[in-house]
Amino acid sequence: MSSKIKKTRAMEILDSRGNPTVRVFMELEDGTKVKSSVPSGASTGEYEACELRDGDKARYGGKGVLRAVENVNDIIAPALVGLDATEQMKIDELLINLDGTPNKDKLGANAILGVSMATTKAAAASHNLEIFEYLGGTEANRIPVPCMNILNGGEHADNSVDIQEFMAVPFGAPTFKEGLRYVSETFHTLKKLLKDRGMATSVGDEGGFAPNLASNEDAIEIIIEAIEKSGYKPGVDISIALDSAATSFVVGKAGKYDLKWSGAGIKTSDDLIEMAKEWVKKYPIILWEDPLAEEDWDGFKKFTKELGDKIEVVGDDIFVTNTKFIERGIKEHTANASLIKLNQIGSVSETVDAVRLCYEHGWRAFVSHRSGETCDTFLADFTVALGTGHLKTGSSSRSERLAKYNRLLEIEDKLGDRAKYYWK
Ligand code: PGA
Ligand code: ZN
Repeated sequence: MSSKIKKTRAMEILDSRGNPTVRVFMELEDGTKVKSSVPSGASTGEYEACELRDGDKARYGGKGVLRAVENVNDIIAPALVGLDATEQMKIDELLINLDGTPNKDKLGANAILGVSMATTKAAAASHNLEIFEYLGGTEANRIPVPCMNILNGGEHADNSVDIQEFMAVPFGAPTFKEGLRYVSETFHTLKKLLKDRGMATSVGDEGGFAPNLASNEDAIEIIIEAIEKSGYKPGVDISIALDSAATSFVVGKAGKYDLKWSGAGIKTSDDLIEMAKEWVKKYPIILWEDPLAEEDWDGFKKFTKELGDKIEVVGDDIFVTNTKFIERGIKEHTANASLIKLNQIGSVSETVDAVRLCYEHGWRAFVSHRSGETCDTFLADFTVALGTGHLKTGSSSRSERLAKYNRLLEIEDKLGDRAKYYWK
């Protein structure tokens, strides 16, 4: 039976925010049929690959993706007929060349990634393998620690908290299944604590709470209380990870920030680094993403020099899953880990390259969903295939987030005794 591509087709569907996104269907000569759906970010890095939107205000406020869909149907699909789905790199290269721009502006990274992921899925299915087995081989047995985003501030909330994401990290659990239970229980305890204080318990885009807390430290303290009240030890069973998403509160040129939500005022990179040093001493923080903005390479480097031996320092907006920026970061000691988002770079092969580059230099790779998601679970398999050891895919609410966690439960269950779960 042949795993040659017979038919590729795309359509416009809606993501978890009700915004249009691309779904790709692929059929092979041997009858294999798969589909893949593309996520979408809100607090995006400036140098991310292009998410092609129609700009036609008469449809979805300009957010339609009919052009990306057309690009799959009219340009990409005919070029793929007869190619073997197992030739991922060759196909991704073809897609990149068909586009011909550095940022995938012509066909759209949403069109290209949809096809790229469908190719992986089709090849796996055609060989009767799970996606994580096909991509990662027989060695793929590491289930990631779920960094669960349970409380939100910044652009993702309407409160007095500047930091965008507060994650609970069950690194002390014996298995993924138990880890997921630890942080899920913490999420529910947090809800109760917020309710008892008369605070809002509605959830944001990634399923975390966004209560009107008075400050950033208040947010950390209530999470610690929730961990303890759930019967876990902060710093032993569960630690805390933060994503400042600092690009969203930068003012003017790099190195100046306005903590506008908490009202703490204008700060320099040095002020933020001092604050971080204090917090790392005081609280069980294990990982800090985007503590400074995408243009603030010097600040990032200083931050890493001060704290890189104590915590994982992750670059998201600054690296945008692009080996060009990660390479610079490695050379300049800008961080010690990169966030990994498939749609920031726009193809499976390039994302794998980004993860490998991190590994070759002793960096960690932190896989992430986007704030706009679908119920596609490719991300879960991808994370296990590459053995990154941790991922973030939202809270213990909203089905598009749970879909990934549930897929990881399935993978761990399938691997049985072979499954490994550890932080580092
Ligand atoms: P985004 O947010 O998907 O809206 O970009 C997630 C993040 O900043 O990590
Ligand atoms: Zn981020």
